Amino acid sequence: MRSLAVIGALSIVVAIGAAVYFFGGFYSVAATEESAPVAWVLVHVRQASVDRHATEVLPPKSLDDAAVVRAGAHAFAARGCTNCHGAPGVKWAKFSEGMQPSPPDLKEIVDEREPRQLFWVIKNGIKMTGMPSFGAIGVPDQEIWSIVAFLKKLPTVSEEDFKTWSAPSG
Ligand code: HEC
Repeated sequence: MRSLAVIGALSIVVAIGAAVYFFGGFYSVAATEESAPVAWVLVHVRQASVDRHATEVLPPKSLDDAAVVRAGAHAFAARGCTNCHGAPGVKWAKFSEGMQPSPPDLKEIVDEREPRQLFWVIKNGIKMTGMPSFGAIGVPDQEIWSIVAFLKKLPTVSEEDFKTWSAPSG
């Protein structure tokens, strides 16, 4: 019984301490301050959440279709993804270096992601990270799938190709 009382008292102290720390403004939300535990939690919660939620079935058209890949490259540039993520021959905007977590270079991660996971992230965004939901602004599923098709090819897309595919008329 005694140890239960001690555990109870300790939990109350911890809860009060946490409330004072967070609501008293002691925790810093500055994007310049890196926090290993917060980064760890963000990455692991994100991966588990995306994996559980990304249940979308197969894309309407083949992701290898060259026309779909080209349309995806065009959408990737037109929707502003390059500002944060860059693209072959296109540097990300300087401001993205001040974001935390910083937007990843997508060619380095797409091989480790399934199309359904990429689709879900682009459609729904990632809370508290700056990654927007493109579904929320009405981008059609078909266009999002074309972006997924482009992303899966991204590691092998040349600067020339990206320039041609993303040209305003293309
Ligand atoms: C305002 C900046 C911003 C824009 C614009 C943006 N993103 Fe992101 N994106 C981010 C950030 C930041 C992350 C990292 C989130 C994290 O670490 O959890 C991210 C993550 C992602 C991921 C997940 C990476 C992973 O590890 O699984 C994908 C895929 C992605 N973005 C694709 C896109 C596409 C496609 C577009 C355009 C339609 C786009 N993003 C536009 C900031 C942006």
